[in-house]
Amino acid sequence: MQTTVEHTRTTLNFSAGPAILPEPVLKQAAEDIWDIDGSGIGILEHSHRGGVVDRVFEETQAACRRVGGIPDDFEVLFLQGGASMQFAMIPMAFLREGDTADHLHTGAWTKRAVADARLVGDVHVAWDGTECDFRRVPEAGEPDWSDNPALCAYCSNNTIYGTRFNEAPDAPAPLIADMSSEMFSRPVDWSKHAMVFAGGQKNLAPAGVTMVVIRRDMLERSRRDVPSMLRYDLHADKDSRYNTPPVFAIHVCGLVFKWIESMGGLEAMARRNDAKAAMIYDAIDASGGFFKGHSDPNCRSVMNVPFVTPSPEQDAAFLAEATAAGMSGLKGHRSVGGLRASIYNAFPEAGCEALAQLMRDAAARG
Ligand SMILES: Cc1ncc(COP(=O)(O)O)c(C=O)c1O
Repeated sequence: MQTTVEHTRTTLNFSAGPAILPEPVLKQAAEDIWDIDGSGIGILEHSHRGGVVDRVFEETQAACRRVGGIPDDFEVLFLQGGASMQFAMIPMAFLREGDTADHLHTGAWTKRAVADARLVGDVHVAWDGTECDFRRVPEAGEPDWSDNPALCAYCSNNTIYGTRFNEAPDAPAPLIADMSSEMFSRPVDWSKHAMVFAGGQKNLAPAGVTMVVIRRDMLERSRRDVPSMLRYDLHADKDSRYNTPPVFAIHVCGLVFKWIESMGGLEAMARRNDAKAAMIYDAIDASGGFFKGHSDPNCRSVMNVPFVTPSPEQDAAFLAEATAAGMSGLKGHRSVGGLRASIYNAFPEAGCEALAQLMRDAAARG
């Protein structure tokens, strides 16, 4: 088992997404673009109905199930339209006349999910983080669920505000999670979820693929009277090949799943990610108030760390210093400002330490 994340490139990529991918995966993907399986044809050029892509899909599915510990009563789908398409697909598939969808509103992405669900049915916001500026997520018992929701939706890791649920919430109806910015960064509690989804371009793949893991009873109850591309049951029946799928992005997912296995699986990945994030949070906490994180300490994201200095001018100066030191993608999201370090699975430990050192130096100078 490999213990540290391999990193030989000179730039440290802190981008929130599309984001850094594991080096061994990129090297294999580059070879496969030229010629995969000795077929004389590259992965970008193979028919999605041919034997090579059959092999790629089977291995990707199998590796996904092994790595994620996904129970047999769940299907794994690879869809298109980004995580954003799920904001529409979910209410269209699961809400019927008079149904209510309950949502936990914890940031910019849940805002979009709520807005799209409202176009389709009734939405009850069971917890709203607007007043606390999304510095935290609800504690256990805090959500005020409606009487009989058809589904409950939340976002497990809030990419922009840098908060996360340490544990999935208890919900009175099938629970659906947007795990886009943390999928497979730690084990998933399948017993609590009816469905999880993730846009690929953070922890899994290049943009273009959205992973959906959905329990079979959800497929059975999903609506058939929606356009075919929005039907989960159809995508499941057709092995995610109802239409032409993003084969390359799915292939990279498969390589990433195998890479996670080679790194010891999700428990090991979670320990490594916790240690990486701790380096940066420690630098924030030890800075005597020079750096401030956005999230309350008890729900800090391990994937996305937004922080500010005492002023926008000092933010800009620190960003310039970091850029000169070979760090890229640290500018904060436009809605929060400041800086944000996204440190997904493939981001190296040494990169977190380098940023932490730069922060300690900046704080010491004041
Ligand atoms: C938590 C979360 N949900 C949804 C999205 C939207 O993803 P996509 O661009 O794949 O639609 C993002 C993108 O950053 C995200 O971080």
